[in-house]
Amino acid sequence: MTDQLYMTMNDGHNIPVVGLGTWKSEPGDSTYNAVFDSIKAGYRHIDTARAYDNESDVGRAINAADVPRENLFITTKLWNKDQGYDTALEACEKSLARLDCGYIDLYLIHWPLKDLRNDSWKAFIELQKRGLCRSIGVSNFTIDNLKELEEKYDVLPAINQVEFHPYHYQKELLEYCNSKNIIIEAYSPLVHAKRMDEPRLMAISDELGKTPAQVLIRWAIQRGMVVLPKSVNQDRIVENFAVFDFDISNSLMKRLDDLDERYVTCWDPHNPPPYAPV
Ligand SMILES: NC(=O)c1ccc[n+]([C@@H]2O[C@H](COP(=O)([O-])OP(=O)(O)OC[C@H]3O[C@@H](n4cnc5c(N)ncnc54)[C@H](OP(=O)(O)O)[C@@H]3O)[C@@H](O)[C@H]2O)c1
Repeated sequence: MTDQLYMTMNDGHNIPVVGLGTWKSEPGDSTYNAVFDSIKAGYRHIDTARAYDNESDVGRAINAADVPRENLFITTKLWNKDQGYDTALEACEKSLARLDCGYIDLYLIHWPLKDLRNDSWKAFIELQKRGLCRSIGVSNFTIDNLKELEEKYDVLPAINQVEFHPYHYQKELLEYCNSKNIIIEAYSPLVHAKRMDEPRLMAISDELGKTPAQVLIRWAIQRGMVVLPKSVNQDRIVENFAVFDFDISNSLMKRLDDLDERYVTCWDPHNPPPYAPV
């Protein structure tokens, strides 16, 4: 297996470019086994969230795995009902207790909740100062949301985690984040498994001799992102990590870029629901 890659965030910490997603990984053995198997397969980065209800299973698995804590990278997220200054401080401590991993490598505001996101960010800056979180970032933030934070605070997010795949190629957001030294983390990078047999993707996959999932993950890496494929299936966990020993040519990258159809599988920050998801 070729060595995995790391990127350096704007706060100086390194982040492994491929992380295991755990949204919809059932609490209990399903999440435990997926996380444990992924670490055995070489993953060093796990992405969870308070809202996924599986932080304690992630914690059990990383503590059972035979890998030193400093070699692992654990992300969790502040859920909407906990947004605000005091509530965010408290929620972080609770997540950390469930994860039982000493510190959180990356803590993210899960959603840009209009009236509370700025207070939450103030708490995140404090949490980073206190050492509970090494790095802090956001998720589902638009360019306008990022500009607003920049106006109010000196500390910019290290990461913006958003839906990103060739069928939703958010070029403008990527360029904006690159210009601010904010790394994009691509969520739902496998299009939530809804385009695996799409003919143009399958043709590129055949040309490369790689699976559609591997092509999608490699595309995100070569576009300069961290990428978070989710699986609870042992074979697919291994498959999704075998992405460090090949390159996609410029012409095939362009053909993948051209798949863009603004296809959103998850929630759309540009068209948020009329109610705040809690
Ligand atoms: N911040 C946010 O608001 C947000 C939103 C969405 C997602 N995320 C994060 O991003 C992660 C990934 O996104 P996602 O879970 O929405 O979707 P995804 O990774 O794009 O797709 C996951 C789906 O693909 C299947 N799959 C995995 N590997 C496969 C392969 N090699 N071949 C065929 N099918 C495969 C999985 O099934 P099996 O499990 O059965 O393999 C699952 O049904 C999440 O788990 C979460 O950590 C964050």
